[in-house]
Amino acid sequence: MSDMNKQTKLLSTTENDIQTAAGILKNGGLVCLPTETVYGLGANALNETAVKNIYKAKGRAADNPLIVHIAKFDDIYPLVKNINRKARVLAEKFWPGPLTMIFEKSDKIPPAVTCGMDTVAIRMPSHPIARKIIEKSGLPIAAPSANISGGVSPVTAAHCYDDLKDRVDAVIDGGECEVGLESTVILMVGDTPRLLRPGFVTAEQIEAQIGKIIIDSAILNPLDKGQKVLSPGMKYKHYSPKAKVIIIDADDEKYYSYVNQVEGENIFALCYDEDVSHINKKCLTLGKHNDNESAANRLFYNLHQFDLMGADKILARLPKTDGVGLAVVNRLLRSAGFEVVKL
Ligand code: TXA
Ligand code: MG
Repeated sequence: MSDMNKQTKLLSTTENDIQTAAGILKNGGLVCLPTETVYGLGANALNETAVKNIYKAKGRAADNPLIVHIAKFDDIYPLVKNINRKARVLAEKFWPGPLTMIFEKSDKIPPAVTCGMDTVAIRMPSHPIARKIIEKSGLPIAAPSANISGGVSPVTAAHCYDDLKDRVDAVIDGGECEVGLESTVILMVGDTPRLLRPGFVTAEQIEAQIGKIIIDSAILNPLDKGQKVLSPGMKYKHYSPKAKVIIIDADDEKYYSYVNQVEGENIFALCYDEDVSHINKKCLTLGKHNDNESAANRLFYNLHQFDLMGADKILARLPKTDGVGLAVVNRLLRSAGFEVVKL
């Protein structure tokens, strides 16, 4: 396909390069840009052709809608119909930042962004480079994670470039993403908001602001056959490195003896700092056992590292599910296709 043979420019974060990126977006092109969560594959959200090119570049299913990114709160008004009180409270508290809210969409949003749904997901990122590019372009920017669909989301420019070179017009190198996994997604339509995807902004933090929310059951459970999903992204295979990931739900001793008895080459452990000295395999760690934020930050980075190391199998320790841990477990379960060994 002709648009799969682009000359991908590698850009830095100078004013000049940011201007170049904004220009590409205004002209309907595709730019990978850093955000505080993961790198995004951005296009003008109001340009239907540009938006369709996002799906082509990623190989993304045509029924998995995109998040629209804005630089300041006022930019939301033309894009949505109603902003209820709870949404305003959350925006006040968590924007700019790693929270995406879903609203009824306005007619300005082309159907390709929402896959024909009557709602649209909106996020105001906090990353200074993302914000500058959005501001300079003067446009709302549709951006899914900048990876081929099904793979591990990118947290460095090299991750984007390796996946999407020749498929996008430019990649901006803004260093490593601080959060390391995607934003929290919450549906704000209806009386009780519903958490669709956990992220760095936790369910606990949201409830402290607006009271009880519903935690969608698809966050920690595989979908039943034919089950209706509220967030289409939940039904696809996701976050899969080349290696097979197996999650082990066990206490220290049982985890160590399970990992140590597995034979074969290129088998690695994804565990915690405290575990390393007990394990006879090469390990990458998620940090200290009680540090969920470090786990969030390192999960995708390490899954990319395992691919570079040629891993065939990754024996991952089941993380804790409190706070940001819920997001870590949600992503890890999907990368393992929900394969959990319970000991
Ligand atoms: O942190 C993030 O959110 C990153 C950065 C680039 O901002 N973006 C991101 O986009 O993770 P993506 O496309 O990889 O994930 C968006 C998720 C998908 O699961 C999609 O199904 C869901 O949000 N989504 C988008 N619009 C929706 C809608 N109207 N209703 C329900 N779910 C929606
Ligand atoms: Mg994604």
